[in-house]
Amino acid sequence: MKQTSIHIPVQIFSDLKTLEAPDAELFECARNATADAYAPYSKFRVGVAIRLENGQIITGSNQENASFPAGICAERVTLSAASAVYPGIAVTELALTYVNESGDSKHPISPCGICRQTLAEYEQRFGRSIRLILGGFSGEIYIINRATDLLPFAFSSQELKPH
Ligand code: THU
Repeated sequence: MKQTSIHIPVQIFSDLKTLEAPDAELFECARNATADAYAPYSKFRVGVAIRLENGQIITGSNQENASFPAGICAERVTLSAASAVYPGIAVTELALTYVNESGDSKHPISPCGICRQTLAEYEQRFGRSIRLILGGFSGEIYIINRATDLLPFAFSSQELKPH
């Protein structure tokens, strides 16, 4: 029997003011995007901003539906929009924030399992890691250098190929 363990490096910043300027700019875009969420059911407004390799910033928010499973998380809304408008351009960073029904947003959230799977495929597709900037409207901000770090042992398209 062999044993291994997985280490996930996370950089923790005390607040937005301690981030590098380009990260703070992207994060502010994500905060602004929470205003555009369509979240009448959960009232949990999520904002995302992604930076592409060409420097373009694309923002998005969660878009819900009365048929709840038809709703789409802000991460996948934004990744799909970017890929549709700028096909073939790699994503280099993704900032994620939120505000809940009572206006609270004091700690980072991280992408749900489906979004982690989607992010992993964007990294694989472009052969580039996506840096995640996670935080609320106040409190600490976490930076994770690769989205795939959040999905160890991810299922990928490699498995679909004949071995
Ligand atoms: N949601 C996101 O958009 N991203 C996340 O990372 C977590 C959850 C959305 C989905 C749903 O509209 C609402 O937040 C509550 O789950």
